[in-house]
Amino acid sequence: MIKTFNLSKRYGKTTALENLTLHVKEGEFFGYLGPNGAGKTTTVRILTSLAKPSAGTATIGGFDIQKFPLAAKKLIGVVPQAINLDMELTGWENLLIHGLLYQMRRFEIREQAEKWGVFSGLASRLAKPVNTYSGGMKRRLTIARALLHNPSVLFMDEPTVGLDASGRRELWGLLKRINREGTTIFLTTHYIEEAEALCDRVGILDHGRLIALESPRALIASAGKVVVDVFEGESLTSHFFPDRVAAGTFAATVQGSATIRNANLEDVFVKLTGRRVES
Ligand SMILES: Nc1ncnc2c1ncn2[C@@H]1O[C@H](COP(=O)(O)OP(=O)(O)OP(=O)(O)O)[C@@H](O)[C@H]1O
Ligand SMILES: [Mg+2]
Repeated sequence: MIKTFNLSKRYGKTTALENLTLHVKEGEFFGYLGPNGAGKTTTVRILTSLAKPSAGTATIGGFDIQKFPLAAKKLIGVVPQAINLDMELTGWENLLIHGLLYQMRRFEIREQAEKWGVFSGLASRLAKPVNTYSGGMKRRLTIARALLHNPSVLFMDEPTVGLDASGRRELWGLLKRINREGTTIFLTTHYIEEAEALCDRVGILDHGRLIALESPRALIASAGKVVVDVFEGESLTSHFFPDRVAAGTFAATVQGSATIRNANLEDVFVKLTGRRVES
């Protein structure tokens, strides 16, 4: 559904994205992970035709994004990193404007707004101005808006930033349902547990380069399934083991305090790059 070949983007001397070659399958829930400045938003901006690549090609649903940008754009919905709703207008008016921009008919917009309003749990609030919404409701409205024209692919750039734990889980449920109904999802996130909970596969980006591409489970298995965190004074070191027995044997030999836990994707990042994800 999304294919890129050697996609690169330079801003002056900064290489924001370097030779990204990626194939996201139809119906896949794809996670795109990486620390601040890794190039996640740059990738999304290129794939949604908001930025031009410096080199390389990409297609959405078979349409080359540079040769057939309109055809490619019809297939996508976008939830941007920064919420860009019209705060003075009501939820419904925000959806209406979006539908009109996509040349939808009014009755169609109304039908779709109703469907996605109910789906996102906002139906009773659509008549209210957006500036009366909570952060989570604003997020859900940006998602309803992105889905209004029935896109095949939904791009979401850190949609759960700023939400509390329950808001995040609620949104996870919504995203899972959208994906189950057949929408391909491309989700960027800093939250490794989010990718683990939602995604079929994750790509890990670091300094503009894709450094891993796997299922969350396979990545965790490749790092080691069990981790022993050792605290000595101020410093924390993590040691990886294939099972609890090996981890326990090691922990017994440690001088400082040690905790044993299951590995997560954060560990994978540390293992791959030697650094923690700053968030
Ligand atoms: N318009 C721009 N002009 C110049 N440099 C840019 C521009 N947009 C992004 N960059 C640079 O490109 C690199 C990648 O940025 P990008 O926004 O894609 O990262 P990101 O992975 O989305 O980070 P974050 O997690 O903070 O959102 C950074 O070094 C950034 O400073
Ligand atoms: Mg970003």
